[in-house]
Amino acid sequence: MIIKPKGTYDLLNDDALLYKYIEGNADRFMQSYNYEFIRTPIFEDSQLFHRSVGETSDIVTKETYDFLDRGNRQITLRPECTAGVVRSVIENKLYGNRNDVLKYYYLGTMYRYERPQMGRFRELTQLGVEVFNSFDPMIDAEVISLGYNLIKELGIEEFYVKLNTLGDKESRENYTKALKEYFAPHLKELCPDCQKRYNTNPLRILDCKVDHDLDIFKNVPKMSSYLSSDSKERFKKLQEYLVMLDIDYEVDESLVRGLDYYDYNVWEYVSENKNIALGGGGRYNSLVSSLDGPSLPAVGFALGVDRLIMELKDILANKKIEKEIDVYIMSVNEEEKRFALTISQDLRLNNVVCEINSADLSLKSQFKVADRLKAHFLVILNSDDLNKGLITVKDNATKEEVKIDEKELIDYLVSNI
Ligand code: HAM
Repeated sequence: MIIKPKGTYDLLNDDALLYKYIEGNADRFMQSYNYEFIRTPIFEDSQLFHRSVGETSDIVTKETYDFLDRGNRQITLRPECTAGVVRSVIENKLYGNRNDVLKYYYLGTMYRYERPQMGRFRELTQLGVEVFNSFDPMIDAEVISLGYNLIKELGIEEFYVKLNTLGDKESRENYTKALKEYFAPHLKELCPDCQKRYNTNPLRILDCKVDHDLDIFKNVPKMSSYLSSDSKERFKKLQEYLVMLDIDYEVDESLVRGLDYYDYNVWEYVSENKNIALGGGGRYNSLVSSLDGPSLPAVGFALGVDRLIMELKDILANKKIEKEIDVYIMSVNEEEKRFALTISQDLRLNNVVCEINSADLSLKSQFKVADRLKAHFLVILNSDDLNKGLITVKDNATKEEVKIDEKELIDYLVSNI
């Protein structure tokens, strides 16, 4: 028997229902915030990720699925979608009108060769947004609150926004210098990864899960002491907006995020139950120009759909997720089956969810199946009735039965469900 690859899973049963529930809510939500759907390829030129997510990031150094295709092109399965959306914005010149704020959302699978554990997969699904051409803290507030309100709308309450700012380039350079000076005498105490990060990207040391409890971390210099006045002002304004919008947030100066393209505000939606990130994002004002596009400020986030599903499953624990149909049409002989097939089409075209006996079941088994599917109405066909132009309809909850004229069946069901 062939089994699924490590770190992947089949989306089945309740998980599949929750996925569609999340997708439906997301589509509705994005429409009201006026975001357009975008789909970019699952594989891209490897260079795209090297030049965006970063040569020194864990994702690019350890986690990408890379391969040479049959035409000898170096390809990477996307580990995230921001880079692909940015590439598409540049390649398709979507920034044509300089006054337009471009707002996109996506839903799709990403691939990261990570060590699988609770909430961490090698094939993961992200629901994300990317906004281009605004540097106003108002749009950061819109984007953060969009994710926050969507998670709430799905029914998840126990989470908050962890927020930080990495400031502008100059603030980050000054802070990086201070961190290097601070960690220099302690280098040997750091884990091997952080010893490398010391040279490549010292900010990432703050994010280390291995070293985090070491004493030296207690007195680490704070980013806030190195922020330029503009970066400070923008962060302050954003927080004022988040308060106005009733967003539960907490500033955490150790939040640096694992991708190299961020500047200014960064954040994560953190589940209080599991202490894992349900999503994360931030501003990336230099990414578009560094990928040969124009200077275009940008901000976005992505939610981990697999983690949302896990969280919702916990909330709904013991409550079976209800799947119901409107009508089950019962038929036994060929005449009844033909009739069932035609009225099922008429009902379905009228948005009535219905099912037929397509497995040649006995009448008794059909009653059982209809109960299991939680059918609201049963349409019980029999040749005697059909010869008189009548049809028996039973309300499966009240058990009331009526005989109605065949021609009135569709109207009757549409108006009663
Ligand atoms: P990220 O923090 O790498 O950001 O991923 C966003 C979310 O995807 C995480 O918070 C988590 O919920 C989920 N996720 C990440 N890796 C895994 C995994 N191995 N298994 C399950 N879920 C996972 C980004 O990807 C950025 N592109 C977000 C962004 C958009 N920033 C700006 N725009």
